[in-house]
Amino acid sequence: MIRAVLCCLCCFLLEGVFGVETDEIEVAVMEGDSFTLRAGLTEIQRDDEVEWRFGSSRTRIIRIAAGNVTRYDDEKFRERLKLERETGDLTITNVSNEHNGVYQLSIIIKNKKTIKRFAVTVYATLPTPVIFIDPSQCSERSRIVLCSVLNVSHVTLSWYKENGLLSNISVSDLSISISLPLEVEYQDKNTYRCVLNNPISYKTQQLDISGLCQTRSDCDCDLCFDTTEAVIRLVVTALMGVAAVAATVLLIKDIRRAGRTHTIRQRCT
Ligand SMILES: *[C@@H]1O[C@H](CO)[C@@H](O)[C@H](O)[C@H]1NC(C)=O
Ligand SMILES: *[C@@H]1O[C@H](CO)[C@@H](O)[C@H](O)[C@H]1NC(C)=O
Ligand SMILES: *[C@@H]1O[C@H](CO)[C@@H](O)[C@H](O)[C@H]1NC(C)=O
Repeated sequence: MIRAVLCCLCCFLLEGVFGVETDEIEVAVMEGDSFTLRAGLTEIQRDDEVEWRFGSSRTRIIRIAAGNVTRYDDEKFRERLKLERETGDLTITNVSNEHNGVYQLSIIIKNKKTIKRFAVTVYATLPTPVIFIDPSQCSERSRIVLCSVLNVSHVTLSWYKENGLLSNISVSDLSISISLPLEVEYQDKNTYRCVLNNPISYKTQQLDISGLCQTRSDCDCDLCFDTTEAVIRLVVTALMGVAAVAATVLLIKDIRRAGRTHTIRQRCT
């Protein structure tokens, strides 16, 4: 009895997983790039019908029937759509976030209908991560360096020591600001990198150890403190999900300033 139930459950699960996966072809694309969805046809005949639809509402985009191509008016796809008449391949150029979603192709040849689905994920252009020091966490032995990025989703932020991964943090579909701390001892002369990546691209920021404060007292410098503390407070706020637009704008300004902390810090030391 139990075995039968388990088996049934298994069948359901398998069907659920593989039913979707085999149907849906995944496509990843960077914002601003183009992508082509292949219909897999070689020569469309006069009697064949090919139709592309988009999104959960399956809105028609373009169709070939009786040898004619019909475009359906949609702001999102205007000037961005190319359909290969011979093959039915669909190309979308200069993509943005609004082209993210499922594209459904239906082909009718000799009264036989075939459906194909393409799940297109559009990834935003990544910002370069910003590295700054958290002076409130300096100790006699080490200081804490934070690597931050604003308003990101579907990314992983990581710290590498030489080529080894030290730590990372991932963001799924929410657009939030994140920071990842790294403790660096004063004598440490290793190379550290902070890397922000999504499945198709990455941005790297090298940690400039010589630009960091070299002793506890350097790190406590008041001048440096003002800027960085403000940044940390804002990043923490954003982390807690209170990412009001005003705060985010402030944060951007402050992070930009924090980018210049090295200069300020050098003046302090
Ligand atoms: C296809 O185009 C031809 C000529 O432009 C027209 O006569 C015919 O009605 C069109 N067929 C369809 C199905 O729209
Ligand atoms: C690409 O699309 C954006 C809007 O999403 C537009 O501002 C930009 O001008 C377009 N670029 C080209 C080359 O068409
Ligand atoms: C954050 O990202 C979202 C989606 O990528 C965008 O719509 C929004 O304008 C961004 N906000 C800021 C402050 O950059």
